[in-house]
Amino acid sequence: MDLFILKSLVFPLCFIGHSVGENVLPAGPVEAYLGENITLKILVAKKQEDIIIWYFKNEKEFLSVATLKPPNLNVNDRYKGRVSIDSANGYLTLTSVKLEDRGNYTINILRDLLGLTGMIKLNVADVTPPTLTLLPPSGEELQQEKFTLTCLANNGLPSNWRLHWYVNTSSQIKWEEEWNPGMLQEDNLYSWSSSMTISVDNWRKIFSVTCRARLGSLAPLTVTLKAQPDSLDTNFNL
Ligand SMILES: *[C@@H]1O[C@H](CO)[C@@H](O)[C@H](O)[C@H]1NC(C)=O
Ligand SMILES: *[C@@H]1O[C@H](CO)[C@@H](O)[C@H](O)[C@H]1NC(C)=O
Ligand SMILES: *[C@@H]1O[C@H](CO)[C@@H](O)[C@H](O)[C@H]1NC(C)=O
Repeated sequence: MDLFILKSLVFPLCFIGHSVGENVLPAGPVEAYLGENITLKILVAKKQEDIIIWYFKNEKEFLSVATLKPPNLNVNDRYKGRVSIDSANGYLTLTSVKLEDRGNYTINILRDLLGLTGMIKLNVADVTPPTLTLLPPSGEELQQEKFTLTCLANNGLPSNWRLHWYVNTSSQIKWEEEWNPGMLQEDNLYSWSSSMTISVDNWRKIFSVTCRARLGSLAPLTVTLKAQPDSLDTNFNL
């Protein structure tokens, strides 16, 4: 069928916003952190010959993001290299989302002279990675039976960063831990700390201790302390 005839038949329908009785997209909104990869899923099963168009709309503009007309995928120049439509299911993936990607995403599925349409809102939360510091035990502390390692995460956003400990790269070993949730500072950034108490006996058996800050699916920040037989070597690995 000629796509232009199809378009002229279907578009008036689509923009009225009818979804022909079926939910095409989840209710949303989708929440993402700046820099994450996100996939907007659809609720209807894609048919092989479906033509799928994803649009973006915010306060300033309305534009098409990508069109899948099997076997071709056309991506708007603005999204080249960071957007794809999965030909198997019609999902839209945006890699490394930006703040400008906040807005409403509309899908039009052109199928058998019908238009299925849906809209979902995407929120992108701003992110500032905290600065991670792992305080090594002092020589004095190592004379005692137990000592505490502290991991500081300073000046980050949003408040959902979490700190995790890994001993010898495993998160399975559990020693006494204490977690201080984020404290908001004057500059509207958060700081966190977590400490772990280790006996000197255990310390002697440790190869490394790592503190990791995680937020959503973003690559974690890591700081590692490597225990050497006689000395301590701090190895920053951000
Ligand atoms: C996006 O969708 C929401 C919910 O339907 C609506 O309130 C808002 O005005 C829309 N924003 C834009 C820029 O179209
Ligand atoms: C950590 O690794 C070292 C070296 O591989 C090993 O000797 C030690 O038993 C491990 N410690 C713990 C607590 O698993
Ligand atoms: C996003 O996807 C790209 C390409 O598939 C990948 O290289 C990158 O590590 C992903 N980033 C995140 C935060 O998952």
